[in-house]
Amino acid sequence: MDIKIFDHQQDLDTYAAELFVRLVNEKPEAVLGLATGSTPIGIYDKIIELHRQQDVSFQAVTTFNLDEYVGVSPDNEQSYAYYMQKNLFSHIDIPAGNTHLPDGMAENIDAECARYEEQLQAQPVDMQLLGLGHNGHIGFNEPDVHLSGGTHAVKLSKETREANARFFASLEEVPRYAVTMGVGSILKAKTVVLAVRGADKAKIVKDALTGPITTEVPASLLQTHANVVVLLDREAGRMLD
Ligand code: GLP
Repeated sequence: MDIKIFDHQQDLDTYAAELFVRLVNEKPEAVLGLATGSTPIGIYDKIIELHRQQDVSFQAVTTFNLDEYVGVSPDNEQSYAYYMQKNLFSHIDIPAGNTHLPDGMAENIDAECARYEEQLQAQPVDMQLLGLGHNGHIGFNEPDVHLSGGTHAVKLSKETREANARFFASLEEVPRYAVTMGVGSILKAKTVVLAVRGADKAKIVKDALTGPITTEVPASLLQTHANVVVLLDREAGRMLD
């Protein structure tokens, strides 16, 4: 793993944004795997800035998001579809038809998972952006005794619902289920970029990067991937040697 620790958040955001922009300039039809949460926002801001400076065009790019809540429609501001429009897609020149998120409103969620996984297999991800949950989850792959490989529906853990409650009016409103790419889908990306900030993630960063590879820490499976770039701020990296 290539681990980089940054003193300033802005430098982390710029470094990550430039990885994606460089890829798109080298391969205009690149397939990008995208993430939500608070960590990617600064990275998306920097990508938008580079796009405005005419350093990059996304016209031929395809994107796949990691996950989406079940039962939350794209026009609801809590949905990840809404988040992506607000924080990235509406500010760049990507055609709407090239952006993909699981449909959390699908009547048949299992069929939706199969459809999404099929699309992913047809268009393998070149570079996947990932954040890290406090319990070691990636996407919404929660710690468990076994993990699913492909896109699937998950019941969110109490810890994840509590962590995400800050985006909702109350804990009660946080959805109980989500659709997520599986760890197998994530590991198929040619390059994985894991970005983590904050002292509250220092312990899980250490466990994920240097601890045993275990389904109880889903991010630890990234240790099996040949091409992972880990971008940490000082606080998130403080427990690493
Ligand atoms: C959510 C998302 C994850 C994300 C995690 C951490 O649970 N499903 O993909 O990595 O939150 O988010 P944050 O960056 O806000 O800590």
